[in-house]
Amino acid sequence: MFPAVSLVLLCALAVVANPITVNNSPISIPIVKRLNLTGESTIAALDRARVRSMRSGTFARPTGAKAAASVFNFPVINEVFGYIATVGVGTPPTDYSLIIDTGSSNTWVGASQAFQETNSSVDTGQTVSVFYGSGFFLGEQFTDTVTIGSLVIPNQGIGVAIISEGFSGADGILGIGPVDLTEETLFPNDTTTVPTVTDNAFSQGLISAHEVGISFEPTSTTDPFTNGELTFGGIDSRKFTGPITFVPITTTSPASEFVGINQSITYGTAGASILNSTAGVIDTGTTLLLIATDAMDRYVDAVGASSEPDEATGLFTIPAENFANLESLFFNIGGTSFEFTPNAQIWPRVFNTLLGGNNDTIYLVTGDIGSDTGSGLDFINGMVWLQRFYFVYDTGSSQAGFATTYFTDTTTN
Ligand SMILES: *[C@@H]1O[C@H](CO)[C@@H](O)[C@H](O)[C@H]1NC(C)=O
Ligand SMILES: *[C@@H]1O[C@H](CO)[C@@H](O)[C@H](O)[C@H]1NC(C)=O
Ligand SMILES: *[C@@H]1O[C@H](CO)[C@@H](O)[C@H](O)[C@H]1NC(C)=O
Ligand SMILES: *[C@@H]1O[C@H](CO)[C@@H](O)[C@H](O)[C@H]1NC(C)=O
Ligand SMILES: *[C@@H]1O[C@H](CO)[C@@H](O)[C@H](O)[C@H]1NC(C)=O
Ligand SMILES: *[C@@H]1O[C@H](CO)[C@@H](O)[C@H](O)[C@H]1NC(C)=O
Repeated sequence: MFPAVSLVLLCALAVVANPITVNNSPISIPIVKRLNLTGESTIAALDRARVRSMRSGTFARPTGAKAAASVFNFPVINEVFGYIATVGVGTPPTDYSLIIDTGSSNTWVGASQAFQETNSSVDTGQTVSVFYGSGFFLGEQFTDTVTIGSLVIPNQGIGVAIISEGFSGADGILGIGPVDLTEETLFPNDTTTVPTVTDNAFSQGLISAHEVGISFEPTSTTDPFTNGELTFGGIDSRKFTGPITFVPITTTSPASEFVGINQSITYGTAGASILNSTAGVIDTGTTLLLIATDAMDRYVDAVGASSEPDEATGLFTIPAENFANLESLFFNIGGTSFEFTPNAQIWPRVFNTLLGGNNDTIYLVTGDIGSDTGSGLDFINGMVWLQRFYFVYDTGSSQAGFATTYFTDTTTN
């Protein structure tokens, strides 16, 4: 047993000192939240498919000819519940609506709107493919000038889809995760990585800090709604309230390959343990808050939720009388406790029909990740969590930062 003082010291060491923060970077772009669930799958099933890909490292495999042969029996899933940024490609730029994804790192276009080649478009002769679990694309790798707000990035590697599935309503993905996730996505140069827009903007001297700040906000409107913001090379101090807590990217694999961190979760004022400190991922491309199966069991017991997910939506439900007594979840990250209110733990009821559910049921935003604690990827803090906290991915220093916002305690029901 460690004396208490050692634990305090360990916690202090875990917090990296002096992260670079650049306030009010001029490069902030609005992002739109969109929900468009079509086809047979539920959000919970899509999220779990994505987790399976993350675990098996199949994001980047198979490539080239192998990929071409296997795509035709890939399960077809249509989903867009994402935060979408308008990104220009080419000279002059054509605008594409891209899903912002910190859980993958290839940027590509062509899923809905066809790619418009211009005189700055260069075909590299490589093929490119990424399998996300909940979708995939296969195409040709180009370099081109990419325009994000006032940021104009020449020679950015971008994929141009020939085939894709799972992205109706979006043109592709703006992948801003760790660059190593692009390994083995090109063919035949499968050891070549593709620097992300953040990496190129920084190495070309267009931004002074190698980081991106992400602001999502909860809403109770189901229409596409501009309520998020993506900031390159800094953070936007108008978008958060408290100090930013930075923690290093976790060393535990496979969470370490993504924007992975260590965190623990407790429930209620009594501090009931739901998840002891363990590794997981912060991901703008996952919808739900996913936690290990044993942790989900404890949460379900603690709050009095349904013991099984609802069949139509794949989501756990909570009776109204238990919702009335629901307490906060507390996320401990780097020694800071982030309170996730009862209201944050349920879907705004206006979404119920879109999710495939009915109006009288209360659906929880937390789901089962599909394996017990100890897998090296024991949680994913997805969009429903990120709507309550500001998120900084300090790519250059391999750390992630979190802060409370004006929406942390907001009521959306
Ligand atoms: C590409 O075309 C645009 C106008 O359409 C022009 O302004 C630009 O200079 C051209 N770039 C190159 C590299 O030729
Ligand atoms: C939603 O998906 C359907 C089917 O793929 C598509 O036709 C429609 O344009 C999408 N709507 C939006 C708002 O993206
Ligand atoms: C692929 O590899 C070859 C040989 O190393 C190199 O000349 C070429 O630039 C590479 N292409 C890409 C797109 O990285
Ligand atoms: C995260 O947790 C793992 C397992 O307990 C530990 O080895 C590691 O030092 C912790 N911190 C980081 C930054 O990975
Ligand atoms: C967390 O760890 C403590 C100490 O090892 C243990 O007593 C407790 O049961 C664990 N809780 C959970 C939820 O795993
Ligand atoms: C359920 O709620 C939605 C959104 O509030 C509404 O449009 C719809 O008419 C409701 N359906 C029923 C059966 O009450």
